[in-house]
Amino acid sequence: MDKIVIEGGLPLEGEIKISGAKNGALPIIAATLLCPGTHIIHNVPDLRDIRTILQLMETFGITWEKADTNTLAINSDNVSSFEASYDLVKTMRASVLVLGPLLARLGQARVSLPGGCAIGARPIDFHMQGLQKLGAQLELEQGYVDAKVNGTLRGNAVYFDIPSVTGTENILMAAVLAEGETVIKNAAREPEIANLIDMLTRMGAKIEGRNTDRLVVRGVKKLVPAEIEIIPDRIETGTFLVAVGAAGGDVNLTNCDPALLPSLFDKLRNTGLYLKEDKNSIRVIRSGPLKSVDIKTMPYPGFPTDLQAQMMALMTLTEGLSVIHENIFENRFMHVAELKRMGADIRVDGGRAIVKGHGKLNGAQVMATDLRASASLVIAGLAAQGITEVSRVYHLDRGYDDIVGKLSAVGAKIWREKE
Ligand code: UD1
Repeated sequence: MDKIVIEGGLPLEGEIKISGAKNGALPIIAATLLCPGTHIIHNVPDLRDIRTILQLMETFGITWEKADTNTLAINSDNVSSFEASYDLVKTMRASVLVLGPLLARLGQARVSLPGGCAIGARPIDFHMQGLQKLGAQLELEQGYVDAKVNGTLRGNAVYFDIPSVTGTENILMAAVLAEGETVIKNAAREPEIANLIDMLTRMGAKIEGRNTDRLVVRGVKKLVPAEIEIIPDRIETGTFLVAVGAAGGDVNLTNCDPALLPSLFDKLRNTGLYLKEDKNSIRVIRSGPLKSVDIKTMPYPGFPTDLQAQMMALMTLTEGLSVIHENIFENRFMHVAELKRMGADIRVDGGRAIVKGHGKLNGAQVMATDLRASASLVIAGLAAQGITEVSRVYHLDRGYDDIVGKLSAVGAKIWREKE
């Protein structure tokens, strides 16, 4: 297994190209299950979660090839199996995204329950209740959700207690081939959902309410294969912006979409960073000391939980006090103990963390516990004095496309080593 070694203290200078969104590509790949034919997906990031979902798709009978480096051609003429096994689902929760499209296409699906993960219990009850509303019969058997429908799914009103991202995506994918109208109330509004809606619309689906919390789907009888481009990864974009904040320097991020990060920019400007947004690029400069800000994670367009750990690393480098509220996942402070090993002063009190900045961190051996926690440790390592070693980097490989290569190219001393 690899570890990442970072010699901190160097400013970052140059250009970083942002990859396509992991969380955009995963549901869109799952959506290709909905109808036969060859679908073309551009701007797919090269990372482990994408390889995992393609492996899962292969188990259903799907074939795929790379049309070029970041373009996938997925053929879904044959969907002969409908079981998503525990082996794959346990490595990636988003595997649950195949439940809706399999049910819509085949009338049945058997998907392993994902179980808990490092950042919390993360149930899928909203997905299940929503599919039941559309007429599916669901049973839990030996750790699997067995879903069946007699005839076709039927449109209905589905309400989410909390706006769930993959829950909204699953119900959308099930509803597009259902009979009649489905209304999803309190739907999540993350931009990756709009990306999926664009794909489904190109496939012939009828969906209203894009970018709102009320989605209306009028079921159609047939869909056709489509071509789509994955939106830029806003979490990767935010991660690099915060990295420049921590390490200092002047970096231009290209192939990104500043409009997808409404809540981050104000926060970063308040910490003292200079940000210049263009349509598809952002320049970030840090020249002076950092100021502390408070953060509350919220569903989109609020501050993303997927950037909370990275912001916490940045806050340890201020000279002030920062209060970070985690409102989405109950256990998403696993990075705290590791940041403390680097000299951070952080106190966790229920769903909030109080960070007392000391202006500096020291390199240490730390352990990645989940995807975004790993990113926060890399950011901390870039700013720390001395050497930081981040072990268990498979978490990072799940969701970042060549983070080591991209950071090296802007002057960071960062490399992989065998553990
Ligand atoms: C997605 C993202 C993940 C991000 C998260 C929140 C993908 C592949 N993953 O995860 O990166 O951190 O959104 O922005 O897009 N909940 C329930 N029951 C359910 C479903 C969710 O109680 O059936 C709760 C969750 O525990 C959590 C909240 O709802 O507290 C939101 O979670 P959700 O939006 O569903 O997260 P994911 O879709 O799993």
